[in-house]
Amino acid sequence: MDNARHTTKLYRVLFVCLGNICRSPAAEGIMKEMAAQRGLADRVDVDSAGIGGWHVGQLPDSRMRRHAAARGYRLDSRARQFADGDFDRFDLIVAMDADNYACLSRRKPAGGCRARLVGMADYLRSHPGCHAIPDPYYGGDADFGLVVELLEDACAGLLDELPLPK
Ligand code: 4NP
Repeated sequence: MDNARHTTKLYRVLFVCLGNICRSPAAEGIMKEMAAQRGLADRVDVDSAGIGGWHVGQLPDSRMRRHAAARGYRLDSRARQFADGDFDRFDLIVAMDADNYACLSRRKPAGGCRARLVGMADYLRSHPGCHAIPDPYYGGDADFGLVVELLEDACAGLLDELPLPK
């Protein structure tokens, strides 16, 4: 009898950006699709959140959805604000840029927590010298396209490095 599916631990990943309507929901959608393609959909749980609460309840920005759809990713999560409890609900919290990282780092419980905090750019393999997923909100088409390109690169790198139990 194969009970593996029921006993294997889920690895929980949370992507965080500023508004949770551009970069982090795109990372969530891309990561879910890539995990499914690798047969890991039931091993990795993926969510996203924003530092700010301005867009809570909203779908991702229509420009972000359009650029993601053009590459085959459907973005249908609703924005939510990061909560300090997330530090103990996730195994890995992934910040999109240095500001997001610094904010989360300040809020991280001094006494320790379940989550490890990392930067998304650390997982880039095809974009040497790029140290952040840049905020596209006040940008144009090219900025949204670049976000998808960077997130595809980083999600693939991240999936390769996830410490999934065998
Ligand atoms: P995100 O982009 O952090 O990638 O979701 C932004 C979305 C909204 C705002 C800033 C960045 N805003 O200022 O409302």
